[in-house]
Amino acid sequence: MSLKKNLSFAHRLTYLLQQLSSKNFHQQHQLMSNQHNNSRRDFLKTAALAGLGIGFAGMTSACASNSDPVFNAVQSQTKDLSLTRRRPKGQKPVHSLTTTPIEKVRVGLIGLGQRGGSLINDLLNIPFVEVTAICDIREDRVANALKKAEAKGQKPMTYSDGDRAWEKLVQQDNIDVVYVASPWNWHCEMCVKSMEAGKHAFVEVAAVVTIDECWKIVDTSEKTQRHCSILENCCYGRNELFVLNMAREGVFGELTHAECAYIHDLRSMLFYLGTEGDWRREYHKVLDGNLYPTHGLGPVCQYMDIGRGDQMKYLVSMSSPEAGLSKWLKDKNPNDGRHAGEKYICGDMNTSLIKTELGRSIMIQHDVISPRPYSRINALSGTGGTFFDYPARLALDDPKKYGLNAKSSHGWLKDDDLETMRQKYDHPLYKQLQERAKTSGHGGMDYVMSYRLLDCIRQGITPDTTVYDAALWSCIIELSAKSVKDGSMPVAIPDFTRGDWKTIKPLGIVTA
Ligand SMILES: NC(=O)c1ccc[n+]([C@@H]2O[C@H](COP(=O)([O-])OP(=O)(O)OC[C@H]3O[C@@H](n4cnc5c(N)ncnc54)[C@H](O)[C@@H]3O)[C@@H](O)[C@H]2O)c1
Repeated sequence: MSLKKNLSFAHRLTYLLQQLSSKNFHQQHQLMSNQHNNSRRDFLKTAALAGLGIGFAGMTSACASNSDPVFNAVQSQTKDLSLTRRRPKGQKPVHSLTTTPIEKVRVGLIGLGQRGGSLINDLLNIPFVEVTAICDIREDRVANALKKAEAKGQKPMTYSDGDRAWEKLVQQDNIDVVYVASPWNWHCEMCVKSMEAGKHAFVEVAAVVTIDECWKIVDTSEKTQRHCSILENCCYGRNELFVLNMAREGVFGELTHAECAYIHDLRSMLFYLGTEGDWRREYHKVLDGNLYPTHGLGPVCQYMDIGRGDQMKYLVSMSSPEAGLSKWLKDKNPNDGRHAGEKYICGDMNTSLIKTELGRSIMIQHDVISPRPYSRINALSGTGGTFFDYPARLALDDPKKYGLNAKSSHGWLKDDDLETMRQKYDHPLYKQLQERAKTSGHGGMDYVMSYRLLDCIRQGITPDTTVYDAALWSCIIELSAKSVKDGSMPVAIPDFTRGDWKTIKPLGIVTA
């Protein structure tokens, strides 16, 4: 047999294996949707159908369905994860979508757990925002949020009647933006129905989990001409805004490389009952890849104008063995043995390398298991200098140009020089909001994020992140897992802008 024939057979085999593994993952993700409300009988029925390979091509919507196990078992129809899909007729791009300015922005909030319970504090402290609706399946959380709103003189409608009560919220008239802060398996459907009901959808991280879901939010945003923005608070940290400003002002020269991560020892949290640990741990059983890419990637993509002048092209990904979560389970036996027998497959450390269309490289890591200090790395290199975070360090090719004491790029700037650079390049948004943001979560960046994104809606301008960013930053979850599964083979990254990245102008955030 010729080499050519051998190769094409190998490719076909790889493709087949990819489809099988991806299908298995999709089924599992959707099964998770039913965790809280499905009976064991439902589960067995689903599993049996999946095992028999029953499929109903063409009958799907792409979001994980949360009510019908049969639907869930068969709905993954992804043919090629990497394919950039054509814009269907009748849809228009939203990368420059502007809307009618409004005086007050009315927000409905779905999910009042750890995250939603904190987001509402920020929303209630933004002068031009009114919280007009809140929803959670837990009545105690709704009651608690309502109390906070009433203390600020606001009277949101409340929804807590089952896991589809949010469908009534999105139909409520006096809402401009729906905040989605529920578990991941609900994000896609909640965003889609919010946009279809004429609202902008602002969704927590990760925006969605699967490639199909990425395309679903992109298509819906384009169809409805509503924004779907990702609530990536890490884009609004002081250091991230500082680096963004320096990048825009040319301090880094020609950008070549970035590094980022989500490194956070979450072992104990992953077993806290009644928190995100309850559902987030499930993903460690079905996916071996980067389960939380957007905190690291968001800021880096903004530095590099990814999606607006450059675009991600392909990635390769590699995982370490899974060890730490299994060991934690064995050693601690959390919640009196309730989780005994659970099997995890997600490697403790996942490392991916992304190549961009302009040839630049991005390294991204995910590790929520190893005993080590928190880090998002947050590093950027160019011909003019390099920044690394945790702690913040800057080296410059020509420190003299900025009137600094440093003589060369061979050492990090000393504190006084770094302070001089901060005085010059701290971002205007940070300077404007730092006082008000002081008491907000994650060092104030949560407030800056909500203020800024909702201010875009108030002004009617395009938010800093559109649906294309939400989809791109989130798609790394499934694509990294695919590359890991395929022995770290390169995986092409779909272009959710469908070629528009070549002409879209970079963000206006610096001059806003
Ligand atoms: N940006 C950040 O810094 C940050 C931090 C933590 C969490 N998050 C993200 O926020 C989201 C929520 O995480 P969390 O930590 O708050 O989780 P959580 O489990 O604490 O809260 C989720 C809430 O959603 C509610 N819920 C579940 N299904 C629902 C439904 N069908 N309808 C209405 N409510 C429903 C739950 O009862 C719960 O109160 C996730 O996407 C997570 O990744 C982001």
